[in-house]
Amino acid sequence: MINILKHIKRTKFWLIVIDYLIYPIYHFIWSYIINFNGKLLYFLWSLKNKEFFSLNNNDKLIVDPSDESKKISSKILEETKLFIENSKKEILSKEYSEKMSKTSLADGEKPYRISIYEKLSDNLKKEIVQFASSEKLVTTASEYMKVFPILTRVQVYYNIPRKEAPLRGAMFWHKDGFGFKNLDFFMCVTDVDENNGPFYCLEKKINAGIFKSFDYFFKKTGERNKVNLENFEKKFKANEILEFKGKSGKAIFLDSFSTFHRGGFCKEKERIMLRFCYQTHDAICDELDSNQDYFSFDFSTTKNNTRDIFKKYLFFKKPPIFLKFLKKQLIKFYYLVEHRYKI
Ligand SMILES: [Fe+2]
Repeated sequence: MINILKHIKRTKFWLIVIDYLIYPIYHFIWSYIINFNGKLLYFLWSLKNKEFFSLNNNDKLIVDPSDESKKISSKILEETKLFIENSKKEILSKEYSEKMSKTSLADGEKPYRISIYEKLSDNLKKEIVQFASSEKLVTTASEYMKVFPILTRVQVYYNIPRKEAPLRGAMFWHKDGFGFKNLDFFMCVTDVDENNGPFYCLEKKINAGIFKSFDYFFKKTGERNKVNLENFEKKFKANEILEFKGKSGKAIFLDSFSTFHRGGFCKEKERIMLRFCYQTHDAICDELDSNQDYFSFDFSTTKNNTRDIFKKYLFFKKPPIFLKFLKKQLIKFYYLVEHRYKI
């Protein structure tokens, strides 16, 4: 039975079933039932015309540096000067490698990155969160997702080159398998070029991309659903791949659940990137399960001092109990029905 299913999932017929039946029906259920509140807020939010970046029916968009993004980047760079050498030492330390190998094999072998958001000043964190919750970025996410988003992650990561280390983890092609639809925002804090790892994704949107995957992927723990560069090239040609790099403040929006992507690795230089995740309450994300009175990424934002219904949702929306259990099943369902590219 499992073999028959596997065989069917590789056929063109199954592609049609996904495009014309499974995806539209599930999309409706996800939008209007699972995210009923988010849909309602989306309609209320879009009553007033707001400025946003249109993804033009794609699931990614590169945006040039703005005054605001340049200002935030330079402030981050200024503050990181105080501790960046220590952060580098920390990545290279034995303790850090041991700590990382407990959560991710790929990160533990030869660690190459560390979160530095925690080390920024409270003022700057507040400013970054204000940027993440600005009307333009929130509207961009809500217009893409067509439901009002929850800001689940605000990260600043520092990556360093590691000599003679193989490709690993997020450097392989993959989709982030934690939900149905989301919008990530990645912004270059340092300038990014060939030497400090551009970010790659497919240029065109794959219709119902969440339900399309590869026949083959790594089985090793921590490498699930990662596709190596050779196999990926059998299906997608080099000219179909978008390379994201550029000056400090340049950014890319992308739905990391539906589009294949991979992080570049630093050959010579280091890089610092800022990342925001706009998600929904059915996504698998630790932040959605924590229940503090303050916003994890800016302690000055609390449930008490946040009166606005949209901001309350953006910062503090938690999934109802039934969904906490259901969301893992939903992810299993996506894997179960996905079409597998033959390579
Ligand atoms: Fe990813």
